[in-house]
Amino acid sequence: MALDREMLLRWFHDGRARTREVFAIPKPETYYERPIPLRNPIVFYEGHLPAFNINTLIKLALKEPGIDAGYEVLFERGIDPDSVDAAKPPTDQWPSRRCVQEYGAKADALIERALSDGPIEVNGGEAAVAILEHEQMHQETLMYMFHEMAYEKKIARKPLNVARALSPARAGRTSGATQKIPAGIATLGNDTGFGWDNEFPAHWVEVPAFEIDRYNVTNGEYLKYMRATNAEPPHFWARHNGEWFWRGMFELKPLPLDAPVYATHDEADAFTRWRGRRLPTEAEYHRAAFGTPSGEERLYPWGNEQPDASRGNFNFTNWDPVPVGSYPAGASAWGVDDLVGNGWEWTSTVFDGFKGFRPMASYPNYSADFFDGQHFVIKGASPATSRDLVRRSFRNWFRPNYPYVYATFRCAA
Ligand SMILES: [Fe+2]
Repeated sequence: MALDREMLLRWFHDGRARTREVFAIPKPETYYERPIPLRNPIVFYEGHLPAFNINTLIKLALKEPGIDAGYEVLFERGIDPDSVDAAKPPTDQWPSRRCVQEYGAKADALIERALSDGPIEVNGGEAAVAILEHEQMHQETLMYMFHEMAYEKKIARKPLNVARALSPARAGRTSGATQKIPAGIATLGNDTGFGWDNEFPAHWVEVPAFEIDRYNVTNGEYLKYMRATNAEPPHFWARHNGEWFWRGMFELKPLPLDAPVYATHDEADAFTRWRGRRLPTEAEYHRAAFGTPSGEERLYPWGNEQPDASRGNFNFTNWDPVPVGSYPAGASAWGVDDLVGNGWEWTSTVFDGFKGFRPMASYPNYSADFFDGQHFVIKGASPATSRDLVRRSFRNWFRPNYPYVYATFRCAA
């Protein structure tokens, strides 16, 4: 892998700076709270990011000593238990914030030195990118974790990047419009550069003809479904005086009927069955997003141009979802909207390694621990997904009943 040290350093500084902005959202007195009972408290994450960088780049890849062996165990890994009862934090005695931040500053200085002139060419190249993307992935984890906090425990702020004006002409279109996708080949996996282990090896999949919704299922459609079936409301909704509201990041808003519904895999699956349909597979998602009528495949739904604010609701330009169909410049070759951005897309595919999977040297436990049949693949991006993670082969995975993630869905048949 060719190393551009200047680029890596810039990326590192930008990533740390954005993380500091994200950590400025919860009020300081909430530092030891667990906004999601299935996860560690906030303090863990402020220590985890620098400790992961040291463990991965300095100790594992470069075989050099770390900074604080105790912290580098305490903050090593998060938890993903199957129930609140099984969610046991690694300690009852978390360090003070001052100590965690002092450790973070020392770690940052060491990483900076390694990226500037450490011997990272040999086996540190993969580790260097891994720590940078790891930081960005956690920014999203933190966002949906902080989403759970009561408004009075947060300091409201503007989105971190500037959004483009939405396209009102398409905004608010009803979904229900479907698109036929003929049989064809989808390339899954990564053959172009850095990727996490679960993205390799690249391979072809033959996808039979299918049909897919052009828009995500909206809150409005989900409301009709709830009324027809007495299904439970999604986690992101709240009810006051008989009216439905959206629990936004910083405020409660009247339920936006034309925005995508955020739902669990279980809820999404039940909805599609009620409609006589099903969730798309991972390969069908690829075909709808990156396939074209001519048979060529694109890097992104809209083509091969780099992602920017005109293509979709990602990269911290909005805290919350916007109406479906707001980004016509991000539509796929088939005219399917919002496949990247405005919420990850649930698939029916159980998370597993591709044939020939090998754990990555710089983070051997990244994926393999989750090949347990208990997690489903999500694709695309949410408002809190960094632009750098918008990559065709990027895969994310969650338990089917995990309600906190910014994930939506559409029907296929
Ligand atoms: Fe992590």
